[in-house]
Amino acid sequence: MHAQVAIIGAGPAGMFLAHLLREAAIDAVVLELRSREYVTARVRAGVLEQTTVDLMRRLGIGARVAREGLVHAGTTLAVDGDAFHVDFAELANGASITVYGQSEVMKDLNQAADERHIHVIYEACDVRPDGLDTDAPSVTWNSPHGTHRLDCDFIVGCDGFHGVSRGCIPCDALTIFERIFPFGWLGVLAEVPPCNHELVYANHERGFALASMRSATRSRYYLQCSLQDRVEDWSDDAFWNEFALRIGETFASRVTRGVTFEKSIAPLRSFVCAPMRWGRLFLAGDAAHIVPPTGAKGLNLAVADVVVLAKALAGFYAAGSRDGIDGYSDRALARVWKAERFSWWLTNLTHRFPHMDGFDRQMQLAELAYLRSSRAARSAFAENYVGLPLEE
Ligand code: FAD
Ligand code: DHB
Repeated sequence: MHAQVAIIGAGPAGMFLAHLLREAAIDAVVLELRSREYVTARVRAGVLEQTTVDLMRRLGIGARVAREGLVHAGTTLAVDGDAFHVDFAELANGASITVYGQSEVMKDLNQAADERHIHVIYEACDVRPDGLDTDAPSVTWNSPHGTHRLDCDFIVGCDGFHGVSRGCIPCDALTIFERIFPFGWLGVLAEVPPCNHELVYANHERGFALASMRSATRSRYYLQCSLQDRVEDWSDDAFWNEFALRIGETFASRVTRGVTFEKSIAPLRSFVCAPMRWGRLFLAGDAAHIVPPTGAKGLNLAVADVVVLAKALAGFYAAGSRDGIDGYSDRALARVWKAERFSWWLTNLTHRFPHMDGFDRQMQLAELAYLRSSRAARSAFAENYVGLPLEE
C-alpha cells in the first residue's frame, strides 16, 4: 500500500488530522490498535475551546456540537465552600467554552470519516514505523490476515502517551520534561442533573473536587484521590459524601445523588517531549505531551497541534515548501508550553499536596483571594481557560 501520510492512532489527534489532510487533498491512512467501538466509548475530556468548536464547524462536523453542546460563558471557583464566579464573556472578549464529551467528538469525526471515505484501519497490531531518517519511511502491522506494509512520505504519531511512535526516536535526539503529581483523579458519571449550570472547581482542605456535566441530566464529577486508591475502595456513598463536603454547602444542597458508572482513576502528569519531530516522523497530541486535566487542555492541545501540522504538510505538497514542516515543532511547542504552564499552575492552586504545610496552604488561599478580588488576575485565568489563539 502507499499513502502520502501514515497516521498512527485514531484518537482525537489522528482523526482531526485525517479530516484536515482530506480537506487539503492529501492522501492519508490511519492505523489504530483498538476497535472503533473502544476508541469511541472512552470517557475522557469534556471541555472544548472555541477554536476546537470552530474547527469542527469548518470541517463540516459541527452540527451536533452546535445543537447539543453546552455553551458556558463562565466558571465558578470555590475555596472551602466559599464560591466566586469568573465571567469569560466579560473578561475574555465574549469567549466561551463548550461542554461536549470526547466520545461525542469521536462519534462526529468517525461518522464524517465514513461519509468521506477516510481510510481508517482498526485493530492493527504491532504497528512499527521504519525508515524515519530516510526519504522512504514505511509502517508495518499485523492483522488476522497477515503482515501489511504501507509506504509513505511522512508518518505522524498520534498514538497517545503509551503509543509506539515516541519510542522510535533515539533517546539522544529528545529532551523529556516531566512532573508527576502525587495524587490522581477519581471520575464518575451519574444519570442525575448537574449541581450547577456551569463547572465548579473546588479547592478544599480535604482535597480538590470538580463538578462538570455531559447534559442537563448527566453529571460528570471528579475527586482528587490517593494514587494508592482503587475504584473498588470508593462506594457510591463514600463518593457522594466526600463530594458534598468538598464542593461546599451551596452546591452540596443541589447535588442529586444516584448510581455512578464509568468510575475510573487517572494519574496526573505534566510531560513534554521536545522536539516533536524526528526525520520523517512527527508527534502530535498526547504522544508528545501530557497535561494534568485541571485546565481541560489535553484534547484541545491535540487539536491545536494537528492544525499546525496539516498546514505545514499542505504547504509542502502544494508549493514544495519545507518551512512549515521544519517549523512545526517550534510552533506547536510554543503553544504547548503555555498550556502546560496554565495546567500546572491551576493544579498547584487547587489541590491538596501530601507534604503541604501551613505556609503552602496560605499561599494557595492568598492567590485564590487575589483572583477573586482582581479583575486583571481573573482576566489572565479566563484568557488561558477559554484557550489561547492557535499558532498557525
Ligand atoms: P489518545 O486519545 O490517547 O489517542 C491515541 C490513539 O492511539 C488511541 O486510540 C490508541 O488506542 C491509539 N494507539 C495507541 N498505541 C497505538 C499503537 N501502538 N498502534 C496504533 N494505535 C495506537 N483531557 C481533558 O481535557 N479533560 C479530561 O477530563 C481528560 N481526562 C482524561 C482521562 C484519561 C484516563 C486520559 C488517559 C486522558 C484524559 N484527558 C483529558 C486527556 C485527553 O483525553 C487527551 O489529551 C486526548 O485524548 C488526546 O488525544 P490524542 O489523540 O493525542 O491521544
Ligand atoms: C472535565 C474534565 C476536566 O479535566 C476539566 O478540567 C473540566 C471538565 C469533564 O470531563 O467534563
